Amino acid sequence: MESKEWYYRLGDQTFMVSTEPQLVSHDFIQTSFSDPVMSSENLRIMLDNSCLLSLYLKSRDHLPPSKLTAESPAAPLQPPCSFTQIGMARLVTDYMTLAFLTDVFVVPEHQGKGLGKWMIQCVKEVTDAMPGLRRVMFMAKNAPQTVKFYEELLDAKMHDQERGKVVFMSRRDPEVDS
Ligand SMILES: CC(C)(COP(=O)(O)OP(=O)(O)OC[C@H]1O[C@@H](n2cnc3c(N)ncnc32)[C@H](O)[C@@H]1OP(=O)(O)O)[C@@H](O)C(=O)NCCC(=O)NCCS
Repeated sequence: MESKEWYYRLGDQTFMVSTEPQLVSHDFIQTSFSDPVMSSENLRIMLDNSCLLSLYLKSRDHLPPSKLTAESPAAPLQPPCSFTQIGMARLVTDYMTLAFLTDVFVVPEHQGKGLGKWMIQCVKEVTDAMPGLRRVMFMAKNAPQTVKFYEELLDAKMHDQERGKVVFMSRRDPEVDS
């Protein structure tokens, strides 16, 4: 799948969700998975077989003053952007009929700002674009706010519940094959 990106501004902060594998911070993923930490080879295999939507905080790197040219003081060189990964949502998918959503996470210092909802809207855009999509599945905590979160954002129905977890299945009738 061609990589996609989305931007979101909140005050003076710019956030990006991207499916570009080259940008993913392996360190971020390793520290987000509390237990167990994976070998880098296993992490690579996991990423190669997933569509990872990574959430980044975008910031401009500071350049030393010498880089600002005297000839064009009004338009200094644009410093390059840097992206700090602060969240993710992972789809295990065949990119056609089925997707399993897992590892939905926003770092605590950026929770409650609407970023989780926005990231799930990006997930929905990705799954909605799958031409033969039949189901999006995921498990979530069996708590009212979680149920509401996924029901509203992914139009998903709770399917089953077991030991404090619920299984959601979001269904869309596939387009008729020609
Ligand atoms: C769930 C999570 C991704 C939401 O991200 P977020 O950026 O804080 O979410 P937003 O600010 O966009 O929206 C917050 C909404 O999510 C709801 N929510 C759903 N699940 C939640 C959870 N596990 N923890 C906290 N809030 C949750 C809140 O009730 C709130 O709803 P409201 O706006 O109607 O009050 C984030 O809280 C998180 O990473 N939690 C820890 C990991 C986790 O629980 N992952 C999901 C497993 S099912």
